[in-house]
Amino acid sequence: MTSASLSHDLAGTYDRLAANYDKLHQRWLRHAGGEAQAALEAIVRALVATDTNLLDAGCGTGAFARSLIAEGMSPAHITLLDPSQAMLERCIDTNARQVNGRLETLPFESQTFDVVTCAWALETAQDQELALRELCRVVRRRGVFCLVFCAEKPTRDLAEWLSRLAVTLRGTGQFLSCELVINILRRSGEFEVRAVPTNGPAAALLARRLF
Ligand SMILES: C[S@@+](CC[C@H](N)C(=O)[O-])C[C@H]1O[C@@H](n2cnc3c(N)ncnc32)[C@H](O)[C@@H]1O
Repeated sequence: MTSASLSHDLAGTYDRLAANYDKLHQRWLRHAGGEAQAALEAIVRALVATDTNLLDAGCGTGAFARSLIAEGMSPAHITLLDPSQAMLERCIDTNARQVNGRLETLPFESQTFDVVTCAWALETAQDQELALRELCRVVRRRGVFCLVFCAEKPTRDLAEWLSRLAVTLRGTGQFLSCELVINILRRSGEFEVRAVPTNGPAAALLARRLF
């Protein structure tokens, strides 16, 4: 499960997109990925407590962390990881810890975080299986991993279809098989995995570490 066809200079791609990223991403959420994003946000909001240690991997401009902090979560408990320096620079105002890094080689000890989120970043990992193993590795016992990604699912209307085409043409993602991702997450036997029902070409998964 690799994405050799995607740009190898991902950090450069996102450095160039950073200034316009929020506007482009809002379009994707409005027309296609909104249900999956809402599912992820609802799950995380239900799980976080004042002392929850959270990693947002592939954090982009830090919008999700910013909303959690606005709702009372301490930035001291949030780690933001991204390979694009321009994206990380847009996260500075959050005061959360910023780490330049990739999903495939997470620079953290095993079982460090209570909650790990990864929204719309797995699609561009060069080796998605390795990225998923890494994301699972850093989740604590009884902790959770929440993931949303562009998925190979039927589009319902023209707006979804066009949004999907825009992502493909921009080279910022590919549409992954939900079953394949679930199978990788289940393979170790350490995670209970649930798919949250959503419509459109996007998926939301919740994986809980059992031991
Ligand atoms: C589509 S944006 C999503 C940003 C944010 N999670 C959100 O929901 O708005 C993808 C982000 O993932 C980052 N990214 C892409 N490939 C990555 C990888 N292999 N490891 C970590 N981050 C990656 C990009 O730099 C970019 O900031």
